[in-house]
Amino acid sequence: MSQPRTRTVVVLAAGEGKRMKSALPKMLHPLLGRTLLGHALAATDGLGAERTVVVVGHGAEQVRAHLAEVAPAATPVLQAEQHGTGHAVRVALDAVPEATGAVVVISGDVPLLRPETLDGLVTAHEAAGAAATVLAAEVADPTGLGRIVRGGDGQLERIVEERDASPAERAIREINGGSYVFDATRLRAALAKLSSDNDQGEEYLTDVFGLLVGAGEPVGVHVATDATETLGCNDRAQLAGLRRLLRDRVNDGWMRAGVTILDPATTWIDVTVQLGRDAVLDQNTQLCGATEVAEGAVVGPDVTLIDSVVGEGATVLRSHVQGAEIGPQASVGPYAYLRPESRLGRNAKVGTFVETKKATIGAGSKVPHLSYVGDATVGEHSNIGAATVFVNYDGVRKHHTTIGNHARTGADNMFVAPVNVGDGAYTAAGSVIISDVPPGAMAVARGQQRNVEGWVLRKRAGTPAAEAAERAGAERAGAAGAERTGAAGAAPAGEQAHPGAGEGGRRWDARDTPTE
Ligand code: UD1
Ligand code: MG
Repeated sequence: MSQPRTRTVVVLAAGEGKRMKSALPKMLHPLLGRTLLGHALAATDGLGAERTVVVVGHGAEQVRAHLAEVAPAATPVLQAEQHGTGHAVRVALDAVPEATGAVVVISGDVPLLRPETLDGLVTAHEAAGAAATVLAAEVADPTGLGRIVRGGDGQLERIVEERDASPAERAIREINGGSYVFDATRLRAALAKLSSDNDQGEEYLTDVFGLLVGAGEPVGVHVATDATETLGCNDRAQLAGLRRLLRDRVNDGWMRAGVTILDPATTWIDVTVQLGRDAVLDQNTQLCGATEVAEGAVVGPDVTLIDSVVGEGATVLRSHVQGAEIGPQASVGPYAYLRPESRLGRNAKVGTFVETKKATIGAGSKVPHLSYVGDATVGEHSNIGAATVFVNYDGVRKHHTTIGNHARTGADNMFVAPVNVGDGAYTAAGSVIISDVPPGAMAVARGQQRNVEGWVLRKRAGTPAAEAAERAGAERAGAAGAERTGAAGAAPAGEQAHPGAGEGGRRWDARDTPTE
């Protein structure tokens, strides 16, 4: 009789994870873009299972909430007290009495299991018409794991936990990888017969194998070619080890897909990231979440990208970028901080020590140095002077600033939002712009400069500054004379407007062209 091809997935995730020593349930610890539980669930994606049951216990509320986010179709089932893996599976199956066919059981803390491997296990099980099939692996150090005990004919006899094993059994290096497929009906029958007569006083799922063999049922062993896929996570050192292994696996995959990774040991790419051909990742680069890097873009060294998109041929150097879109050929950094809803158009530039937030910077526009651009729209081909602050917050609310196309704003400007600078407008260096600047206008908004001649000679006599001034020909007599006669006009003693002063007492030069 052929097996019905219906499949049920059971993920065991009720254990405490004591050795993690964490307030966070073990299943929720993150590992390159997913939680441990998220990785386990992802491994079952290709099985086409009719239902997925997740056994929750420790930290049940948090685990349920996480499940609702990452796998809303999965059914959490509470195992209020943890009496072992066999007990956990019985609790799961009691919740789905309708389940027949194959029952795939995996642990929530085995994150390196590949979908292909799980698929191979299920396919082998179904093809053999087995009552149960276990995923095994040959390892150098089997410490702490269940051992596969085979008879003289090479067939599986039983699985024994290390603490219950004889010295001869402990020497076996073929281990139980903790993933299994069972025939639902025969599994239910065997689970009803489990005892807790073992060193831990728990009901072991692994004892199902010995029971089935004793009843003359066919059981199988499917050996994983890559033993790292069966590695579990019990403490944070193991978590770090798993992270390194997954990093290498992910990096190898991308290099084979045509991405250059200059230093794979310091490049950390979440499994959720997408990369284009000929992208180059330099050292100390971290790509997280829903990040996408398009063809030919260069990222790093020293870059973190979180949930961000980098367009074709763009460059990002020594920067922290979150929730941002960087257009094709755009350039970011060194030392930029792009916060959520930052959008850079084609060829745009955000340079050194620049922070952006909710800011659109149009094609070809530049914010090269030392600036904060928040709640702003900058049009195309405009240049924002060095050390500019978009003053977006009035202490209560945020306001928006709009800069038009082909605008050139001077260095050290404050744009006090809400304010608009029109197309082709200029602003003078040092301006505090509090009202709109019409298209094509030059806005000058700053105090008049006054030079108090001879002040240093009089007030700081004998200092190196005074001596330098004297050497440069500053005239003590002239200054003193001005003081004696009380100087002219409104200027205090020794003070006069800057020579050559135009409008507002300021001097124009080539960097800051006047309109009149
Ligand atoms: C288990 C296997 C062992 C195998 C190893 C592979 C048994 C008896 N032993 O041992 O042969 O080599 O996995 O990693 O199964 N859990 C529950 N409820 C419980 C107990 C456990 O949900 O009552 C969950 C845990 O959260 C975990 C999984 O089941 O995700 C495995 O349990 P764990 O205690 O880690 O078993 P191991 O000692 O690792
Ligand atoms: Mg374990």
